[in-house]
Amino acid sequence: MATVKLNGRSVRIDGPDDMPLLWALRDLLAMTGTKFGCGQGLCGACTVQVDGGMARSCITPLGAVAGKSVTTIEGVGRTRVGGAVQKAWLDGNVPQCGYCQSGQIMSACALLASNPKPTDADIDSFMSGNICRCGTYPRIRAAIKKAGGVA
Ligand code: FES
Ligand code: FES
Repeated sequence: MATVKLNGRSVRIDGPDDMPLLWALRDLLAMTGTKFGCGQGLCGACTVQVDGGMARSCITPLGAVAGKSVTTIEGVGRTRVGGAVQKAWLDGNVPQCGYCQSGQIMSACALLASNPKPTDADIDSFMSGNICRCGTYPRIRAAIKKAGGVA
């Protein structure tokens, strides 16, 4: 069991401490915007933010986020950076199948929060753990630059 600040609201989650945060979000809270891909911390589909930093929710135990602030794709649009990123994603028609995209957006928001004007190299380095099987990387890069005010 853990109480977390989830998208700005205090929420008590009744799951075992070793349950992956991803399962708690999807199965206990029916928040299915965060996706299951590999389950091993390798693809980035399950990315959320914990206290503002990137976290792979498939390998983050629920007990580890007790008392912390968790932001998911359902709530990130209410932040200044998240709103700009989601608008840039829409304007640039970034998604193809869409499966990886909530994780991509969560990582992009974490990048821009710490580096508002990233270079191509900054983007490629920071986003390297977010895999897109559809190859939308050029559109992702352009949208990040647009949201950051570079493009
Ligand atoms: S599902 Fe978590 S990194 Fe792939
Ligand atoms: S849009 Fe299909 S996996 Fe990224």
